[in-house]
Amino acid sequence: MIPKLRIAHMAPRLPIIQGGMAVKVSTGRLAAAVAQAGGIGTIAGTGLTQAELVDEIRKARDLTAGYVGVNVLFAVQQFAELMLTAMKEKVDFVVSGAGFSRDMFTWGKDHGIPVLAIVSSARLAQVAEKLGAAAVVVEGKEAGGHLGTDRSVNELVPEVAAAVRIPVVGAGGIMDGFDIGRLLKLGAAGVQMATRFVASLECEAHARFKEKYLSARAEDVVLIKSPVGLPGRAIRNNFTESIAGEGRRAIEHCERCLKRCSAKFCILEALRRAAAGDVENGLVFSGEFVHRITEVLPVQEIMDRLAAQLGQALAAPANA
Ligand SMILES: Cc1cc2nc3c(=O)[nH]c(=O)nc-3n(C[C@H](O)[C@H](O)[C@H](O)COP(=O)(O)O)c2cc1C
Repeated sequence: MIPKLRIAHMAPRLPIIQGGMAVKVSTGRLAAAVAQAGGIGTIAGTGLTQAELVDEIRKARDLTAGYVGVNVLFAVQQFAELMLTAMKEKVDFVVSGAGFSRDMFTWGKDHGIPVLAIVSSARLAQVAEKLGAAAVVVEGKEAGGHLGTDRSVNELVPEVAAAVRIPVVGAGGIMDGFDIGRLLKLGAAGVQMATRFVASLECEAHARFKEKYLSARAEDVVLIKSPVGLPGRAIRNNFTESIAGEGRRAIEHCERCLKRCSAKFCILEALRRAAAGDVENGLVFSGEFVHRITEVLPVQEIMDRLAAQLGQALAAPANA
């Protein structure tokens, strides 16, 4: 029996959340496909206008009656507007990436929308719980995108699970159902996965972005310094080489997207370029274990395989 993940009103068939991926990597189409296949889908709101976000949410709604939420990076100027736009559209939940504020929990209460926070320590998980988080996503160093820790999700999940009463969702480097089984046994109520879902038919990132994933070897995954002020995990290319160490990229057009920006390069432009197919001069965020992906599959097939492997993992004796 696969244990049920329950977060507020949500009780998906499988304990799997598809993580938000900006810019335009996890759109309404991918989120809907994951929700339709029995998980929870997340649209990345970061880098979208409010009108674009509304479009993505409605697109997802047209495709599924399953659970779909919105992720917005806390570091962006548009954080409040995008979160409130998502809440007004009555998404199933909102989640903030790389930080959270007291306000967002108040907005959630006012609109009747569950609010999740992504954390990388037991202490922050406790703060989020106290402020009213419906669940926490605990991201380890294996995750793609911005990172809040250099510790493994395998170490963090038991610590956080012991520290809070709300559901704990483990994230970072989860590529198959055996990985999910391991995290559930460590105390997670569910998992969040992102990298695996990029290599799906429904992901709307450019085909070259997916090919970059399929051709990546373990040694091709690097850490970069993001202008947000955090490290980020990405696939090595011309772009990551050019910003290594003290390297910078001139910013041609600044949209003032970040509350605070080191101006090392334009993160919005770098992410947009990559998702649109320029995978050498853009930033291709990815999780640490991207090299384990060998094929692009329909989301339903990915979910079926995850469920079958998870069933096997849970049936195996504890010491297997
Ligand atoms: C391409 C890409 C973009 C991402 N963008 C975001 C984002 O906008 N907001 C966020 O909170 N996390 C973001 N993440 C992190 C994921 O949502 C997820 O928590 C993490 O990647 C999980 O690890 P995995 O990719 O190994 O499964 C991104 C990850 C990837 C691979």
